[in-house]
Amino acid sequence: EELNITVPVALHLDHGSYEGAKKTIAAGFSSVMFDGSHYPIEENIEKTKEIVELAHSKGISVEAEVGAIGGEEDGVVGSGEVADPAECKQIADLGIDFLAAGIGNIHGKYPANWAGLNFEVLGKINEATGDMPLVLHGGSGIPDEMIKEAISLGVAKINVNTECQLVFADATRKYIEEGKDQQGKGYDPRKLLAPGFEAIKVCVKEKMELFGSIGQA
Ligand code: 13P
Repeated sequence: EELNITVPVALHLDHGSYEGAKKTIAAGFSSVMFDGSHYPIEENIEKTKEIVELAHSKGISVEAEVGAIGGEEDGVVGSGEVADPAECKQIADLGIDFLAAGIGNIHGKYPANWAGLNFEVLGKINEATGDMPLVLHGGSGIPDEMIKEAISLGVAKINVNTECQLVFADATRKYIEEGKDQQGKGYDPRKLLAPGFEAIKVCVKEKMELFGSIGQA
C-alpha cells in the first residue's frame, strides 16, 4: 500500500520441493509451484494431489510440473526436455491451476544447436489438457516468433530469469569499468546496484510487451 502498487501482486514459489511447498503454504504465499517432475509419475501425482488440497484449502494457487521424456538421456543434445501429453492430462486433472510441461525448453542459455520449441508436442498437450494455462520455463533467449506461437497454443505464464541476470551483470560491470564506484559516494550499494536494477526493469517491460501482459492484471 505504501508503494502505491495498483495491480494485484502474487508471491509465488518457483520450483518448490514437496517440503518447500508445504512451508510456503504455511507462510502465506499466494501461489506455489510444486515441482515433482523428478519423481516417477505415480509419486508426482500423489504428492501434487496433496499439495493441491493443502493449498486450495487456503486459497493458494498451485503450479505443477510433469517430468520429461527423451532429452539428454537419449543423447539428443540440444532438444531440451519434452513431456508426455498423456501424463500432462493426468496431472492437469488433479485440479491444479497451471501446468509446466517441457516442450524443448531449457533453463539458462540455449546451446547453439538448440532444436527450438516443439510445437507439435505443445499442441498435443494443449489439446489433452483443455483450458489449463500452460507454463513455459526457460523463457530466456527464445526468439520472439516462437514465444508468440507458444502463447497462441495455450502458454499463459512465461518464466524469465537468465536474461534479467545477464542485463543486471552487464549494467553493473559497465558502472564499475567506467570507474563510477570510485567517484563521490558511487560505492554506496544503492548507487552501485541501481543501473543493474534499472536494466532489469527495462528487460521486464520488454517481455511484458512481447507477452501481451500489459493491462491484463
Ligand atoms: P531462464 O533462467 O532460462 O530464463 O529460466 C527461468 C525459469 O524457468 C525459472 O523457473
